[in-house]
Amino acid sequence: MKIAVYPGSFDPVTNGHLDVIVRASKIFDKLIIAVLQNSSKTPMFTMDERIELLKKVTKNLDNVEIDCFHGLLVKYMEEKNAKVIIKGLRAVSDFEYEFQMALMNNKLNPNIETLFMMTSSKYQYLSSSIVKEVGRLGGCLKELVPDEIIHDIVIKLRKNGGE
Ligand code: PNS
Repeated sequence: MKIAVYPGSFDPVTNGHLDVIVRASKIFDKLIIAVLQNSSKTPMFTMDERIELLKKVTKNLDNVEIDCFHGLLVKYMEEKNAKVIIKGLRAVSDFEYEFQMALMNNKLNPNIETLFMMTSSKYQYLSSSIVKEVGRLGGCLKELVPDEIIHDIVIKLRKNGGE
């Protein structure tokens, strides 16, 4: 069974993430979306909220599983018997950091490969941070995040104090 892991903060999941999830789920027998706990970044959405949003938007993808992890990604991959890390690449600016992480992960476990998927051109500009900024300032989130979670995100942003 070919298992891939798509790791990230998903704070919150965007249409750019979903595009990568759908495409990767067609290539592998199982795709685990692994949400990072204890990142140096302080997430706006709690772990439960991020998982809930991911579950909502992937409910029709039978081979996609949502999980969380902490510590080293390669350790988590070993536990799950997964050999491929999926990463979405948007622009040149993503490349240097992603390249460094891919090399480090490969150094930590040479049996694990990172597979980069180019984000669809219509989502090149998207990130969780920019979605939160637009939402917080009252902008429309349509086409930025899946329709079924727009309401949840707006409610959360309002609770955290908009402008
Ligand atoms: O969505 P993000 O915040 O860009 O995701 C970053 C993530 C979770 C992929 C990255 O921070 C990660 O893999 N963290 C786990 C810690 C780890 O294994 N570090 C060593 C490899 S560089």
